[in-house]
Amino acid sequence: MTARIISGTEIAQKIREELKEEIDLLKSRHGITPGLATVIVGDDPASQTYVSSKIKSCQALGIFSTNYPLHESTSEKELLYLVKTLNDDPTINGILVQVPLPKHINENKVLTAIHPDKDVDGFHPVNIGRMVIGEQGLLPCTPAGIQQMLMRSHVETNGAEVVIVGRSNIVGKPIANMLMQKAGGANATVTVCHSATRDIASHTRRADILISAIGKPRFITADMVKPGATVIDVGTNEIGKTPAGKRILCGDVDFDNVKTVAGAITPVPGGVGPMTIVILMANTVKAAKLAHG
Ligand code: GUN
Repeated sequence: MTARIISGTEIAQKIREELKEEIDLLKSRHGITPGLATVIVGDDPASQTYVSSKIKSCQALGIFSTNYPLHESTSEKELLYLVKTLNDDPTINGILVQVPLPKHINENKVLTAIHPDKDVDGFHPVNIGRMVIGEQGLLPCTPAGIQQMLMRSHVETNGAEVVIVGRSNIVGKPIANMLMQKAGGANATVTVCHSATRDIASHTRRADILISAIGKPRFITADMVKPGATVIDVGTNEIGKTPAGKRILCGDVDFDNVKTVAGAITPVPGGVGPMTIVILMANTVKAAKLAHG
C-alpha cells in the first residue's frame, strides 16, 4: 500500500484562487484593499526568505503590502513605536513582526503590542484566548492551514484520535486546541506528546491522525504509525545545502518508509509550508473585512 499524498501546494493554490476572487470583489464593490505590514529586524537569511515569500504572495493576490526592514540594533522602544504607528494606520489591516527577534528585544512584549484585530499571525494572547473558548478571532496560520488541509482532503476528524508530537506555542498547543473544539466542527480526541512523554511510539501508534511538529529530521518512523493513518508533517529541518546554496529541507517524518504504512501523508516540501502563507493572506483579508464592519 502507498499513502495518498496530501498536497499543500495544490490546496494552497485553490485557496489562493478563492481569495483572489474575494479580494477583487472587496476592491470593486466596497473600495477595500487589504493591507499587510511586515517587519523584520536584522538580517537572518531564513527570516528574509520567509518575509519575501509573504510579500510576493501579497503582490500576486492584490493585497497592499509594505515592508519595514530594520537594523539588528533597533531598540525595543523603536520597534514598539513602529507597531503603535501601524496599529493606528487605517491602510494596514495586518501586522506581522517576523520572529525570532534579536535577544535584546522582548518578543512577547512586541507581539502583545500588536492590536489583536491586526494580529494576522494569531499569536496575541487575546486571539489565543478567543480560540480556546471557541470564539471568532484570527487563528494562528500553520494550525489553521493544517485544519484546512484535513477538511479539504476529507479526512474525518469527528471522534478521531489525534496525536500531536510537539507542544510549541506556534503549532502544537494551538492545533491541539483547534482540533478538540466542538465549535469549529473538528471534534477530535487529542493527545499531545512532548520531551517528557514516556513512550511516544505507544501514543503515535494509536493515532488516526498523527501531526509531528518537533523539528527533528525523520523522527517519525514507519513502526510508529498505525496502518491507514493520516500523517501531517510540520517539520522543515535543514539537512544541508545544494551546490548552488539552496537549503535542502527534510520533514520530521521518514517519508519514504512511512508512506508504505500510512493512508495519507503530507510531503516536505510542498505540504504544510505553502498552507501557512496562504492562511496569512486569508487572515489579512479577514482582518480587512472586520475593520470595515
Ligand atoms: N517565523 C517563522 N515563522 C513565522 C510566522 O509564521 N510568523 C512570524 N511572525 N514569524 C515567523
